[in-house]
Formats: sequence, structure tokens, C-alpha cells
Amino acid sequence: MDNIVELESVSKSYTQGREQMLVLEEVDMHIRRGEFVALTGPSGSGKSTLLHLIGLLDDSFSGTLRVFGHGAGSLDEGERSRLRRDKLGFVFQFDSLLPEFTVLENIDMPARLAGRPDPDKALALLERFGLAEIAGKVPMEISGGEKQRAAILRGLRNSPELLIADEPTGNLDRHNAKIVLDDLREIGARGTAVLMVTHNEEAARCASRILRLEAGKLSEVRL
Ligand SMILES: Nc1ncnc2c1ncn2[C@@H]1O[C@H](COP(=O)(O)OP(=O)(O)O)[C@@H](O)[C@H]1O
Ligand SMILES: [Mg+2]
Repeated sequence: MDNIVELESVSKSYTQGREQMLVLEEVDMHIRRGEFVALTGPSGSGKSTLLHLIGLLDDSFSGTLRVFGHGAGSLDEGERSRLRRDKLGFVFQFDSLLPEFTVLENIDMPARLAGRPDPDKALALLERFGLAEIAGKVPMEISGGEKQRAAILRGLRNSPELLIADEPTGNLDRHNAKIVLDDLREIGARGTAVLMVTHNEEAARCASRILRLEAGKLSEVRL
């Protein structure tokens, strides 16, 4: 199986009062193993909504969604959370490192939560990305760029097959955004697929494929 994610005619609407608001309209999409895909589109176009569906964080939609060969519609909550834990990694725009834990402990958190703490593995990740010197610091003692990089490493802690990143460079200056993008490219080069939402054209160009969401419809951007 080459596609780790497949969507066929996926639609999603939110109910607001009595109104149904259609956010995704018959979206077809796939992500291949190891591929780096950028997702762009105006604010409010449903990018985060799509990420939540693919990340198995939201199960109300119509159509077919397969994640690692499993039909998302037929998974129970235990199976969904196991897939999230074992195969998916998440990074969000605003870092959510726990302030009372060190960077090392934060990066090891997904493994701690799974009952398999192993700080050496977390340290190996920090070393691989040249960040070993911040291992023992708490989030308050590091820069915004370092926090976002640490959040990415936390997303990688359980060796996911797909890293889902929602505007990971959204609150960074250009210099730090470039460093974070280089990290993501490196991750992709090592065979982990990356799905990244971005508003930034430069960031999108790092990807092997660019998708655009607008007015509920998803299309492929020709490079
Ligand atoms: N939980 C929700 N309930 C109702 N409406 C929502 C909810 N989440 C998002 N929306 C609406 O759906 C649309 C798409 O939101 P979102 O996926 O966050 O867009 P994007 O990430 O592209 O900015 C927006 O109009 C937003 O207000
Ligand atoms: Mg969003």
C-alpha cells in the first residue's frame, strides 16, 4: 500500500445554531509514504478541519477516509487513539510545551504517556537536530524558535509515519521559520511523511506537492 492516507469524496459541515455550514465539499486526496505535502488556502477555508480528520481527532464527516489502510469511520476510540499514538505525530502553531517540564521531558512526553519513557531516545532526537544544549532547560528559558523545534521533536518522539503540522512556522520570524522548515525537510528526507499547513509561499515550496483549499474544494497547485 503506497497511500498512507486516502480521502474519497469527504465532506464536512459544522452546525451553527440552525445553520449547516459546509466546510469541506467532496474532497479527494491522498498522501504517499514519505511524501512532504503542503496545504495552503485562505484563513477559515477548513485547513485545520481537514488536518483534524486525517489526524483521527474528529470522526464526524461523510465520505471515505482511510488512514494506514483503516477506514476511519469503522474505528472505535481505542483503535483511533492507538493509531494516533503509534503512527501519527502532531505539531501546532503555538507551541504547547508543558512549562514545568524540561525540554527533554517534554519531548519524551508521548512515550511517557504511552507508558514507555526513554529519555535517551528524546536526547538522541535533540542531538540529531543540534539542540542537545537545551535538553535540561524549561520552556521559559528558550527562544520561540527553539520551542517550536522542540515541539516538532516531541511530534517525532514515537517515530510516526506521518507528521501533521498546522502552521508550524506561523508565529516565527523568517530566520527561525527557515530553520523549522529545514527540520521538516530533513524529517521528510528520512522517510516520514509530512502534511504541513502554511500561509507562507516559501514554506510551501519546500514540499513535494502543494494542495490548496478554497470554498470547500481541494485542488493541486501546479509548480
Ligand atoms: N468546532 C467548530 N464549530 C463550528 N465551526 C467551526 C469549528 N471549527 C471550525 N469552524 C469553522 O469552520 C471554518 C473552517 O475553520 P478551520 O478549519 O479552522 O479553517 P483554517 O484552518 O483554514 O483557518 C471556519 O469558518 C471556522 O469558523
Ligand atoms: Mg487553521
